[in-house]
Amino acid sequence: MTSVSLQDAPATDCLKSRTVLITGATGGLGSALALEAGRLGATVILAGRDIPRLEALYDQLESAGAAQPAIYPINHQSATPHDYQNMANTLRAELGQLHGLVHCAADPGLPTPLREYPAETWATVMSVNFTSAFLLTRALLPLMDETTSASIVYVSDPRNTAFWGAYGVSKSALNSMADIVADEIEGMVDDQGHPRVCVNTIYPGPMRTRLRARSFAGELPSESPLPVVRTSAFIHVLARTDPALHGEHLTLPVD
Ligand SMILES: NC(=O)c1ccc[n+]([C@@H]2O[C@H](COP(=O)([O-])OP(=O)(O)OC[C@H]3O[C@@H](n4cnc5c(N)ncnc54)[C@H](OP(=O)(O)O)[C@@H]3O)[C@@H](O)[C@H]2O)c1
Repeated sequence: MTSVSLQDAPATDCLKSRTVLITGATGGLGSALALEAGRLGATVILAGRDIPRLEALYDQLESAGAAQPAIYPINHQSATPHDYQNMANTLRAELGQLHGLVHCAADPGLPTPLREYPAETWATVMSVNFTSAFLLTRALLPLMDETTSASIVYVSDPRNTAFWGAYGVSKSALNSMADIVADEIEGMVDDQGHPRVCVNTIYPGPMRTRLRARSFAGELPSESPLPVVRTSAFIHVLARTDPALHGEHLTLPVD
């Protein structure tokens, strides 16, 4: 990134007038990111499956003085391609624009050897972590390409060792998809020569969340930082602080 580090505090109002959709918004990273994006001026669309928690987050954003957020209920386990297209149509009709997509939703699956991995769990994990990202990207890219500078971020987690099963495979697939989409839209540039839509992945490192607790049952919560300390990089990428940043797999330094 030119003169700004991903760790630097983002500028106040860096997301002003930008509309950002966050999946898994009720999760640890998703909610921290939603609140930070709202604080920095974004209109945040909260996507998730737990309506009471989405409403609580909506209220938090409103009472913090953020631009009026929106709630988009969706369950990535059962949503169909048609549901994602409906989402795109609704966003176009209601908001008219979309500048950012962060796919935080993830299911950790089971810590199980591949030869014993339950097929049903495999299908759910692949659907939530990966297929939903494909269907979201396919449905939302045309709307995002209508803005002057948009940003797609997939949350990555390199887990290619024993017992990570569907979770590890889904995250590898997400990285490959990011490379493919980034390459395909490489030539779609603005008048400065920067990608109109940038696609990147961010590996945030360990964070104290429900997913972490499920995946590392023996770990003390205090061993991982709260997600709020990991949000700066996501905000910079959403704000297009470096307009040339595209097709990168970013790894945040662990303190
Ligand atoms: N925590 C870490 O150490 C760590 C490290 C590397 C990468 N990551 C990545 O960070 C991202 C955020 O995870 P997190 O750590 O914040 O975990 P989290 O708190 O468990 O959040 C996961 C989110 O995914 C949502 N989700 C799961 N299944 C869903 C479904 N069927 N439909 C819709 N939403 C669903 C959950 O919804 P509910 O709120 O309804 O349960 C929750 O909001 C994930 O992509 C994860 O892979 C985390």
